[in-house]
Amino acid sequence: MPDLIRELEGLAEAARQSIGAAADERALEEIRVRYLGKKGEISLALRAMGELEPHERPRVGEVANRVRDEVDSLLERARERLESAKLEQELQGAPLDVTLPGRRLLPRGHRHPVTRATEEIVAIFSRLGYEVATGPEIELDWFNFEALNIPRDHPARDMQDTFYVDETTLGSPSAEGNVLLRTHTSPIQIRAMRRAGAPPVRVVAPGRVYRSDYDQTHSPMFHQVEGFCVGPDVTFADLKGTLAAFARAFFGPLTRTRFRPSYFPFVEPGAEADVSCSLCGGTGKREAARCGTCKGTGWLEVLGSGMVHPKVIENVGFDPRQVTGFAFGMGVERMAMLKYGIGDLRLFYENDLRFLEQF
Ligand code: DAH
Repeated sequence: MPDLIRELEGLAEAARQSIGAAADERALEEIRVRYLGKKGEISLALRAMGELEPHERPRVGEVANRVRDEVDSLLERARERLESAKLEQELQGAPLDVTLPGRRLLPRGHRHPVTRATEEIVAIFSRLGYEVATGPEIELDWFNFEALNIPRDHPARDMQDTFYVDETTLGSPSAEGNVLLRTHTSPIQIRAMRRAGAPPVRVVAPGRVYRSDYDQTHSPMFHQVEGFCVGPDVTFADLKGTLAAFARAFFGPLTRTRFRPSYFPFVEPGAEADVSCSLCGGTGKREAARCGTCKGTGWLEVLGSGMVHPKVIENVGFDPRQVTGFAFGMGVERMAMLKYGIGDLRLFYENDLRFLEQF
């Protein structure tokens, strides 16, 4: 028997023993390199076959291949054995608590307070059975003013308040009048009722609105939520009950509501609704001083409302003798300011994290 065969058998035996004793994957990898690697002992032995007599080569070659395959499959099986032992150990060990919070790599973002307030308001009305609708921010004069019974000489139409869109940039001028950025969400009343085609219609409509205005309590862009309920026998009592329920849900269960007569062209009668101040509980005092949020009055003015004007009902194609309804509109920034005691509207748009992270 040529020396090479004995050497190969010796290598096989040595490999079997070290594989059996290997404690981890790294040890196995070292063994693989030592025997089967490019400069490994078995590989070298195989290369040495070149020096053998031709008639010896087949026998030696057969042994060499067998040894190589055996070591290879022993390594493979040992790897599987180690892996399942590791798994077994993990299963026996302390259980993994999947409820532990993840490790924070980056601070998590959250919704903007205006988004949050919008979602809260919309959710409250959704629970009361209102459908959510939206309308275009670039609106036509007819929807924003005319159909809402806002006369031509009304101050809201003033160039100072309304941003008009230059129609020459839009192509052909519209039959429904000027193109503008809507100044309120009320045009969604018109669009939603026309789309519904017939009463009853119960809709809550959030969105951005625009006015040429800028100071501590006014921004050229702000948010409103419009709501209305139109159908047979809808009364002012329904309006009061609905808004009182809304105020309790948004500002807290002890919130009281009051209504003061007011004028809006698209309602008759019209009313402004106040809620008891959420920050001083309606007492007008905080820490023995005058409450700054309600200016000591105990009341906060939160929205405009009223019974939908018969002309508006008519403008959407309903019969005002058979259909009545109420409507209301509120400013989202204002609602958030009153709920959280924020003094300056502009804080919402400055993206200062010291402000945003408080919500
Ligand atoms: N659109 C009014 C505004 O922007 C708010 C408003 C008042 C809406 C009374 C209404 C309403 O639906 O009935 O000031």
